[in-house]
Amino acid sequence: MKKIGILGAGQLGRMLALAGYPLELDFFFYDTTGTPSVGLGNVSSDTSANLENPDLQTFIDSVDVVSYEFEHLPLQLAQHIEQKNTLHPSSRSLDVCQDRAKEKALFDRLGIPTPSYRVIDTEQGLIKAVEELGLPVVVKTTTEGYDGKGQFVIRQLEQCQEAWHTIGSRTLIVEAFVNFTRELSIIAVRATDDNIEVYPLAENQHNDGILRYSTAPAPRVDDETASQARSYAKELIHELDHVGILTLELFETEKGLVANEMAPRVHNSGHWSIEGAPCSQFENHLRAITGLPLGCTQASRPTCMINIIGEKGDIQSLLELPYAHVHLYAKEERPGRKLGHVTVQADSYEELVWRVNNVASLLPGSPEFGGYSTP
Ligand SMILES: Nc1ncnc2c1ncn2[C@@H]1O[C@H](COP(=O)(O)OP(=O)(O)OP(=O)(O)O)[C@@H](O)[C@H]1O
Ligand SMILES: [Mg+2]
Repeated sequence: MKKIGILGAGQLGRMLALAGYPLELDFFFYDTTGTPSVGLGNVSSDTSANLENPDLQTFIDSVDVVSYEFEHLPLQLAQHIEQKNTLHPSSRSLDVCQDRAKEKALFDRLGIPTPSYRVIDTEQGLIKAVEELGLPVVVKTTTEGYDGKGQFVIRQLEQCQEAWHTIGSRTLIVEAFVNFTRELSIIAVRATDDNIEVYPLAENQHNDGILRYSTAPAPRVDDETASQARSYAKELIHELDHVGILTLELFETEKGLVANEMAPRVHNSGHWSIEGAPCSQFENHLRAITGLPLGCTQASRPTCMINIIGEKGDIQSLLELPYAHVHLYAKEERPGRKLGHVTVQADSYEELVWRVNNVASLLPGSPEFGGYSTP
């Protein structure tokens, strides 16, 4: 039985393990946050991420391959592990994807369109960037942001000071605000032999910076957009020599696709694939890192994933819906926290909207589902 080591011990690790048990894989999680919620497998926790910790050595020695479900990890930890065991994806993917400035530089180098940006580390630099880029802009910390945290939208020049004092005193990236028609994401998986498979584009609805609804295949995607997205994802995963899942978040604009950010791991916008594709993103990640053949990434029919955030809601009634697949992450309720998700499928997008609205009505605090605008 192969043992998989995972850095990070949250819901993504939990779903990796749930996908791995039928393949006779076993799991050992190494948490650096102090709040592991995975609820299965072996778990070690060390918030200091001390490289001399004997538990770390035990972790490294007892697994066949190490991966990560979380990119906000000390890079030295990944590099240390890489010297002693196999790490997939490598520390290079982690290094690039945990720093928005490095990520953007890679998009630029590969000719992948991305919003105009400046990297700054003073309040003066912020003002200058705003003057050069024009308003509005989105200011983000270069590292550690997630779920829209560490971001500030500046609409008037006077807000620079407030933005700097709220998230600044460190390196920031200032991005031109994109008037997107919608948000999309694409998930690719690459095996050690450079074989690459790509899932269909997902359409994502964020509210207050947090993903709420994700639909795959994204409706109304023309062939050119689909092939453009696929080629960006393939170029990135190949260039990084990345083994496992890589996610690319995109903005769809009137002038084409613009890359927002990447994640070197399984992604919330790929949870639909558990029910919606023959081989889920979790299973494909495990297949890639253990040298098994990659599985089929096609969507069987329109599928929507609804996040359960902050409050669990009426789970009893959700379970009574014949079309709702409920996934709970064994986490305590807390505002803004991802506690689970529900997957719904249908034979048409029209029917899917109806079903998604029924699910959302049982989840308090769910923002209105925008549905799909007709062309
Ligand atoms: N340049 C931009 N123009 C317009 N909207 C933006 C821009 N950058 C980010 N946003 C909005 O903010 C959301 C979160 O931004 P981003 O994906 O960069 O941050 P994040 O905190 O890493 O999010 P997550 O980890 O949830 O993907 C985006 O999905 C989008 O809705
Ligand atoms: Mg994002």
